[in-house]
Amino acid sequence: KKVVLAYSGGLDTSIILKWLETEYGCEVVTFTADLGQGEELEPARAKAELMGVKDIYIEDVREEFVRDFVFPMFRANAVYEGLYLLGTSIARPLISKRLVEIAEEVGADAVAHGATGKGNDQVRFELACYALNPDIKVIAPWREWDLTSRTKLIDFAEKNQIPIAKDKRGEAPFSVDANLLHTSSEGKVLEDPAEMAPDYVYQRTVSPEDAPNEAEYIEVGFERGDAVSINGEAMSPATILTKLNELGGKHGIGRLDFVENRFVGMKSRGIYETPGGTVLLEAHRGIEQITLDSGAGHLKDSLMPRYAELIYNGFWYSPEREMLQAAIDKSQEHVTGTVKLKLYKGSATCVGRWSDHSLYSEAHVTFEDDAGAYDQKDAAGFIQLNALRLKLLAARNRRLK
Ligand code: ARG
Ligand code: SIN
Repeated sequence: KKVVLAYSGGLDTSIILKWLETEYGCEVVTFTADLGQGEELEPARAKAELMGVKDIYIEDVREEFVRDFVFPMFRANAVYEGLYLLGTSIARPLISKRLVEIAEEVGADAVAHGATGKGNDQVRFELACYALNPDIKVIAPWREWDLTSRTKLIDFAEKNQIPIAKDKRGEAPFSVDANLLHTSSEGKVLEDPAEMAPDYVYQRTVSPEDAPNEAEYIEVGFERGDAVSINGEAMSPATILTKLNELGGKHGIGRLDFVENRFVGMKSRGIYETPGGTVLLEAHRGIEQITLDSGAGHLKDSLMPRYAELIYNGFWYSPEREMLQAAIDKSQEHVTGTVKLKLYKGSATCVGRWSDHSLYSEAHVTFEDDAGAYDQKDAAGFIQLNALRLKLLAARNRRLK
């Protein structure tokens, strides 16, 4: 029996590795992805080797992550419950896809992950895995084992010669998930939503108070809804997001303190940092302002909450997400052009936008003489017909009063 484990190299997934060997008696294949979490991956390899793992998969999936997951999601301007840019949610389908593919490659019939039984991530991993391989078995040790306290976990690690970093002996102050799109922190010291989060939670942004007093202006180029350049320089998707993270982080952009509704029913409080994503969202909306038709734009906006919820709930690989994606992608055919953004003390503001595909017509909108582009007299009939039913209603209401 073989199982492919989503392995970070940290203490928890190392314990899971050992536990799978001892409890399930199976050979463990590890998969560690570089999603831009900003951690070295070689220590994970060394640790897996030390623990006797023969098949170790370590892959840099940053370009695929941004090109095939983050960018398609940003075409929709997806935001969950008005605020959350879905940084964790959008990474899970990619990890799941590789787990299933590796399982097929090595002849494993199961995959395993380290998400808790209380969260969204278990749902996302497992829905994605089942959608991609209906026969796959998923092992979620956190839902099964009796290592229910820190002491028991440390005991298990010691008994099995799993190296424990000094700072990992005690409770971590909160749980972190990071990738190129965001850092998310939840739990422990953050659990009381009435209490302000301590400053040390923030890892990739300065506080707006400490951001430069001088605004910085940048230009982001778009093609068909995807960012393709910064300040005129063409860059790959992952390079663009990395660069926007640096710029956004330096200006204190993209911090969020948020209580959300988990799919499993409970509310949870998280601190999010999405510097590049926040800049990108503002930029994308800016270019859509001049290139999207209002009918297409408003329909797309109305679909967005549904689309965001599908991603949050783990339905990336579902017919309804793909249907919405096809509609959203179609809307982006002319979303090509450039926006100018002002980055200043926690905010990214679109201050200019231009495009060969623009629908903006100065001839029509001008307050000056429009040389016959628009006949203001047309508006009178337009208003009269739109007012007709409102007048009939008002007359009826006056009659019955
Ligand atoms: N609540 C976020 C989500 O469901 C993040 C979950 C993972 N974050 C963490 N710190 N463990 O997408
Ligand atoms: C976790 O990190 O497993 C808890 C967060 C979640 O899955 O919602």
